[in-house]
Amino acid sequence: MIRLKLNSIIIFTVILSINIWAQKASGLGSIPYDAFKTPEYCGTSCHTDFYQQWKQSMMSQAYTHHWDEIEYFELAIPHAEKDEKVAEVREGCNGCHAPLSYLAGDVPPPRPSENSRANEAVSCDVCHSITGFEGDIPYNFNYIMSPGKTKYSSRIGEVTSPAHEIVKSDLHSSGDFCGICHNEKSPFGIWVKSTQIEWREGPYSKEGVQCQDCHMPKAAAKTATMGVEYPDTKLHLFHGAHDNGKIKGTIELRIHPDIREVEPGETVKFTVALFNQKTGHKFPTGSVEDRIVWLHVEATDSDGNTFHLPVDKKGFDGEEYTISADVLAYQDMGIAKDIPDFKGVQRDGVPFGDRIFRMPYFDPQGRMTIQQWNTASLGVDYRIGPRETKVETFTFNIPFEAAPGKMTVKAVLNYQKLVTPVGEFLNVPEDELEIVKVNEHITDINIYD
Ligand code: HEC
Ligand code: HEC
Ligand code: HEC
Ligand code: HEC
Repeated sequence: MIRLKLNSIIIFTVILSINIWAQKASGLGSIPYDAFKTPEYCGTSCHTDFYQQWKQSMMSQAYTHHWDEIEYFELAIPHAEKDEKVAEVREGCNGCHAPLSYLAGDVPPPRPSENSRANEAVSCDVCHSITGFEGDIPYNFNYIMSPGKTKYSSRIGEVTSPAHEIVKSDLHSSGDFCGICHNEKSPFGIWVKSTQIEWREGPYSKEGVQCQDCHMPKAAAKTATMGVEYPDTKLHLFHGAHDNGKIKGTIELRIHPDIREVEPGETVKFTVALFNQKTGHKFPTGSVEDRIVWLHVEATDSDGNTFHLPVDKKGFDGEEYTISADVLAYQDMGIAKDIPDFKGVQRDGVPFGDRIFRMPYFDPQGRMTIQQWNTASLGVDYRIGPRETKVETFTFNIPFEAAPGKMTVKAVLNYQKLVTPVGEFLNVPEDELEIVKVNEHITDINIYD
């Protein structure tokens, strides 16, 4: 009897020490920093290639990246201190951007310049300690973490690692895994990030294509220096909006006129078809509050004079947010910035009349916002879905001053991670405001004398 009791105490203690963190919900202050290995520990002699790939990706920069630092320290924290409704973001942002600090209860974490463990951001051991998520839907860092000697990953492998054990986790091979951080609900209960939901509802998930297939492509490579080569090693590229090569060609464009031979004063209707052939979710996705994609159409006559063609209106609800215009927005930045009655900044920063593929976010006062945590409602979703084709028309009255001969008409689709007026207002470094050409196509018409 006593022996049995002793045994069960020993067993209980052993289970407790192996699995101590998994027993608790992985919340604020539930796991100390030193429960996690550093990326350098994983990547210096064993997983050298994965480490270098990860290091170049946004995963390793989720806390240190300039724009993240500005948004967290200059907007989110001051706002959270002034408004009880959004107070939770002081901790919450870190659940995804600096998970180690969130779990350690070290919030706000030290600034990136202080070189603390917050800087490890979304590290190897964060992802490879995840054993599941709470509830039915992955979102808002609802991960269950079990750091320790056991790592969770998609394959056990042929070579035993001297550093750790591996438990096979099917979750790691599923897009649901990514949804833990790539779906986000605001304090107002609005889906402000829904990449995994968009993917789940779209064609790719139904065909079994996972996020990993496009962002961690499989190739013949070793998973560790002392390991064997597998034909389907999952490269840790995580390339997305910050990789211009990933953005380019996402949408294919074709433009054509309804008639090719015209006289000045006559009207030509140009049609542009935009086919999303590359993304597994909508385009843009993720930080949709910041991102814009816009279509610019310009005609050039035989003398080199150019004419800008504004898009034809379609007449749907909320269309005014999808055509660039001379209006101000983002007034709620004034709360954090301590500017009473802040008038806002220009909404779009692109030529007026261009079609913008976006979804506007609104603050509780119904004004457009880039602060996803202050989002109380969403506007029209005019983004381009996976494999969707959108069609836009441009009715052009040929000006009398147009020179006779060949007139070329060019359609260019551009992408920007953050609208210029907001970036300039907040002093965000220029690379975040870079305009990336997604694609272009040219057609021509002939102008008679
Ligand atoms: C623990 C949270 C977490 C998990 C799990 C996670 N991500 Fe991320 N991911 C982030 C954060 C935070 C960023 C934003 C980095 C930044 O720009 O600050 C990010 C950025 C990215 C980017 C770069 C986007 C850009 O703007 O360039 C890609 C691509 C990406 N993740 C893909 C994935 C995929 C695919 C998975 C699943 C295999 C995944 N992520 C799982 C937190 C996570
Ligand atoms: C954002 C989450 C995330 C981060 C960060 C991450 N991994 Fe992974 N890793 C995964 C996922 C998901 C898989 C499985 C992909 C699949 O099955 O398609 C994986 C697979 C692996 C594998 C097995 C590969 C194979 O083909 O068998 C190894 C080894 C690995 N990761 C090591 C690392 C190391 C080392 C780091 C840090 C340098 C790291 N991971 C960072 C999510 C991550
Ligand atoms: C069929 C391939 C494919 C699949 C599947 C896919 N993506 Fe993407 N993803 C892309 C391409 C191409 C881009 C670049 C264009 C863009 O930004 O949307 C991208 C961009 C992104 C970005 C940056 C978006 C932005 O504008 O800031 C994130 C984050 C991301 N993907 C995460 C995911 C996650 C998470 C999943 C699964 C739920 C996933 N992706 C599934 C192809 C794919
Ligand atoms: C549920 C997880 C999650 C939470 C919570 C979260 N983020 Fe993010 N954040 C992400 C992911 C994932 C991305 C990448 C999306 C993309 O690239 O489109 C991102 C992107 C960003 C970006 C854009 C980075 C870029 O380079 O374009 C900023 C800035 C940012 N987050 C700041 C914050 C702040 C501030 C908070 C708190 C108010 C916060 N995030 C809360 C997951 C999260």
